[in-house]
Amino acid sequence: MKIRWTAAVALAALTAVTFAGCGGSGSASATDKIKKAGKVVMTTNAEFEPFEYKDGDEITGIDIEISQAIADKLGVKLEISDIAFDSLIPSLNAGKADFIAAGMTATEDRRKNVDFSEAYFNASQAIIVTVDSEIASRTDLNGKIVGVQQGTTGDSYCTNEDGSSDVQVGEVKRYPKGMDAVSDLIAGRLDAVVIDNFPAEKLVGKNADTIKKLDEALTEEEYAIALPKGSDLTDTVNETIKELNESGKMDEIVSKYISAE
Ligand code: ARG
Repeated sequence: MKIRWTAAVALAALTAVTFAGCGGSGSASATDKIKKAGKVVMTTNAEFEPFEYKDGDEITGIDIEISQAIADKLGVKLEISDIAFDSLIPSLNAGKADFIAAGMTATEDRRKNVDFSEAYFNASQAIIVTVDSEIASRTDLNGKIVGVQQGTTGDSYCTNEDGSSDVQVGEVKRYPKGMDAVSDLIAGRLDAVVIDNFPAEKLVGKNADTIKKLDEALTEEEYAIALPKGSDLTDTVNETIKELNESGKMDEIVSKYISAE
């Protein structure tokens, strides 16, 4: 009896140790899994130049280079999964990717579902209008039809569900791509488009004779990499961002895609 009891305890203890060694709860051993697979999967929405966009068949941009640096640090290959912006967090949490690099603003709301790395970029929401528009400032958006990319911070700002903004947009139209909103603006179906400032500049740059970006910024935001809650990969991502910043490589990457005016 005595001997059997001891054996049972020993077996239980051994089992506990074995499970702890495997990382136990889900994402605790993300790094081991990645190294074993020889690849890290980043998910993004490549409709957001200069951060991620398609150049022919290739996906390129600032976030892609940062992601490549993360893969290099892990010593594995980078795999990119390009999906709709509002599917990014669900897809990450379904285990289909290891991290999100998508010019994603670190918001309190999103923090309920993901962990964010240290911020790597300061951004804001900008207003795009046609060159002949009477809209000259944010409050001119009152009652107007505004296009946004679905599920972005520009969408929440214009939708104003929590009532935190004093701007009361008349109607918010949501698009899968910022580019499609701009096409509708040019076609006269929208009064304005609200989108992040650097993508706004790229979009205006391609249509400078018909649209312009207003100087006034609507929000102040910080981009960060999103990871599953509790992922041990967050440390590697933070170290990579720190190294890119300290070595001057981050500035190099950014200036490759954003020319200083
Ligand atoms: N910064 C905004 C947000 O986090 C927009 C990001 C859109 N990014 C993209 N890859 N389409 O909501």
